[in-house]
Amino acid sequence: MVDRNGWGRDHPVLTGSPRSPPSSFVEQANVSEPGIYEEFETEWPDCWERAAELLSWDEEYDTVLEDGNAPFYEWFASGRLNASYNCLDRHLEAGRKNHAAIRWEGKQGERRTYTYRDLYVEVNEFAAALRDLGVEEDDVVTIYLPMIPELPIAMLACARIGAPHSVVFAGLSADALVARMDAADSEYLLTCDGYYRRGDAFNQKSKVDNAQLKLEQDVQTVVVDRLGEDLPHVLGDEEYDYHDLREEFSGETVEPVSRDAEDMLFLMYTSGTTGEPKGVVHSTGGYLAHVAWTSYAVLDVKPEDTYWCAADIGWITGHSYIVYGPLALGTTTMMYEGTPDYPDRDRLWEIVDRNAVDVFYTAPTAIRAFMKWGEEFPAEHDLSSLRLLGSVGEPISPRPWNWYYEHIGNEECPVVDTWWQTETGAVTISTLPAIDDMKPGAAGPGLPGIDVRVVDGAGESVDPGDTGYLTITRPWPGIARTLYDGDDRFRAEYWERFSDPAADEWHYFSGDAARIDEDGYVTVLGRVDDVINVSGRRLSTMEIESAITDVAGVAEAAVVGRSSETNGTDVYAYVSTEGGYDDETAVREAIVDNIEAAIGPIARPEAVVFTPELPKTRSGKIMRRLLEDVANGEELGDTSALRNPEIVGEIQAEIDDE
Ligand code: WTA
Repeated sequence: MVDRNGWGRDHPVLTGSPRSPPSSFVEQANVSEPGIYEEFETEWPDCWERAAELLSWDEEYDTVLEDGNAPFYEWFASGRLNASYNCLDRHLEAGRKNHAAIRWEGKQGERRTYTYRDLYVEVNEFAAALRDLGVEEDDVVTIYLPMIPELPIAMLACARIGAPHSVVFAGLSADALVARMDAADSEYLLTCDGYYRRGDAFNQKSKVDNAQLKLEQDVQTVVVDRLGEDLPHVLGDEEYDYHDLREEFSGETVEPVSRDAEDMLFLMYTSGTTGEPKGVVHSTGGYLAHVAWTSYAVLDVKPEDTYWCAADIGWITGHSYIVYGPLALGTTTMMYEGTPDYPDRDRLWEIVDRNAVDVFYTAPTAIRAFMKWGEEFPAEHDLSSLRLLGSVGEPISPRPWNWYYEHIGNEECPVVDTWWQTETGAVTISTLPAIDDMKPGAAGPGLPGIDVRVVDGAGESVDPGDTGYLTITRPWPGIARTLYDGDDRFRAEYWERFSDPAADEWHYFSGDAARIDEDGYVTVLGRVDDVINVSGRRLSTMEIESAITDVAGVAEAAVVGRSSETNGTDVYAYVSTEGGYDDETAVREAIVDNIEAAIGPIARPEAVVFTPELPKTRSGKIMRRLLEDVANGEELGDTSALRNPEIVGEIQAEIDDE
């Protein structure tokens, strides 16, 4: 068995050598006692009180975990709290009203800072406005906004009055918005006239108008005027201007509604790349405790930090680690609108430099782009304020990991590769940055209290180094409570596969394939639905991709299966190279060699197709399924969910030429 990462096994070439946490980091870390793993084991589930203690409760909970109705768990039962109170009021009460809560950098170079007091005022005013529109506790409010401060403000306003929010990523289509509003029976919508995309005004309101035509329910819509005269818009019936509402309710305050720990804080639809979107339901108490705890223990966030998770709030990462986690801890959370390469490829490093960012958290797809653009962009800026780096969302292979560690972290910042999902609510697998060695390419062990197991089809743990299904035994506070579409689907999607209800044994199935090493470090290989079967042997397309992206000159790769009479499936690779590489034959050979070196001849690609870019969804995920259709010469479905639909024709032409 070949190990993709190589430590201690066959392929030292691909090894990211293990690295120890820098002592300068360890000395100041929030969590640095190695005994924490054992403590969580012996005290489980009461160990999770450590997370609950980071919050302020209106009423103490009676029990930490109620598991009588598994897999519908209750955490901190009968406790009461309000998320907006935890993110705002209590910091004011602690005398921190003038501390910066949100620092925002807009696409046109605008900058705004909200102190905790500013944020409190605006959240209260908008909460009062929502109430006046008729929003009651438990009504679902849909928020369809780009990365402007009104987005987190609206989320906190909803939380204040106990109305679950359902944030729909602004880049999704009108139909996607309709599907989500319908599924959630949502009668309230907050959106904007439009936003800037690479300097151009993009009309969001017209998408909303289209959606309105298709919605059966009456909807009251609030519109943020983001573009002013750049995009004049007219308000129709039951449409209100956000700024007018604020003026109307200027200075009003709203008592935070005391919510049961188990009451829904929000609903989040997961990306539609795999089947029908699922409405994942998150609780108030357990979720908030878990995001606060992981912000503290994994991201090492401190109140005096300037902390930056460069994700979009339209997805779970932004919910947990731009809004709720950092604000619950009273830190300064950065927020930026736009893309990392506009107006220039040093945009993020300029922001880090200007704001003296302490902790920076991003996705491998961004890191690979930085690597492709070149180290000169970060080198232009002073990044010495950084203390910790994070990665989330996809596997990160050793080469981009090392690039991040060296060129952004100057080999002085630990990198936490955090594995989690919309459904897990918060980080579940990662190293603790002051305690554990880092192994580039492996996310790390389960966090204290999280019992991660990699199992075979029968649910038995596989040997270290072998591939299996990533499961978690025992619940954790941030776990999704159910799917909005129904408890049955929740059970079916996540619990049926590996649990034994008769024996009251419950194992959460993540849908990912993974490998675990002797130290319990998990290397996530990607979704199980991305596994391909070549000559009866299971291969992870992600694993092949990792081997490809480890080749110098390669920027990104996507691997799919192509039906083959002889092998069942052949490996088909799409590759984009870093600028300047025109000797494709040499790169192609290096790719094949590296795949053979990393995995073996069975993974040798049938074809390597070079393309300037890979087709991606608006959330940045590579559309492998579409590439699979192209490889198989099948008719293509709808490509409108792509950020770059034009690339598909180019790829087809390239294949036809071969
Ligand atoms: C993948 C994003 C490898 C994984 C927070 C998971 C990762 C899916 C990592 C969830 C990581 C997330 N290493 N793979 N560190 N983090 N994933 O719901 O396949 O958008 O199942 O949540 O992303 O994506 P989601």
